[in-house]
Amino acid sequence: MKLLETNRLILRDWNEQDLNDLFIILSNPNVALPADSSPITTLCECKNILDYLIDMKNNYAIELKSTGHIIGTIGLNEDAKRNADTRNLGFSLAEEFWNQGIMTEALTAVIANAKSITNKLSAIHKQNPKTEHILKKFGFQQIDVIHNIQRRANEVPHDEPYYILIL
Ligand SMILES: CC(C)(COP(=O)(O)OP(=O)(O)OC[C@H]1O[C@@H](n2cnc3c(N)ncnc32)[C@H](O)[C@@H]1OP(=O)(O)O)[C@@H](O)C(=O)NCCC(=O)NCCS
Repeated sequence: MKLLETNRLILRDWNEQDLNDLFIILSNPNVALPADSSPITTLCECKNILDYLIDMKNNYAIELKSTGHIIGTIGLNEDAKRNADTRNLGFSLAEEFWNQGIMTEALTAVIANAKSITNKLSAIHKQNPKTEHILKKFGFQQIDVIHNIQRRANEVPHDEPYYILIL
């Protein structure tokens, strides 16, 4: 991904040195569960995810300039409806940095640059009012519902709103 810079942040590709910072983000149930994933419990699990992020090159690591640490992720992954011209926007942020405008700052840069990657962004979420607020703030519109989503084996299948932003 092209490196992006904002006032407080650098958005860049993942690398091997990001393991411990990624673990802090993904092992926190308060971050993982609203994103409908299970919190990770081992560095080995984290390494597998990090290797995937490094290989895929479709996810930004959010680096806080003041500390050099990674505090969040923004992904432009496969669309939930598998539309080839659309990328699914997903994001998460370490808990101590919530509600300081950091994701808004990061998404402003990512969305402004996304046209070089795709024509359309999509997003889905599981009853997450904060995510819904952020998506609408950036102009995403709900155009559909994806039915019977089940990301984890022990999860009851559920529906999620499907949003689109034409770039
Ligand atoms: C969702 C998340 C990425 C947002 O990051 P953030 O840096 O805290 O977001 P920002 O501070 O840039 O913006 C938050 C916005 O949501 C609003 N907000 C906060 N709590 C809210 C709530 N309970 N309901 C609706 N809106 C809410 C804020 O007022 C702000 O809006 P504004 O800029 O119009 O004032 C982060 O909180 C997070 O990782 N949460 C846990 C995991 C998660 O929910 N992931 C998303 C999965 S799809």
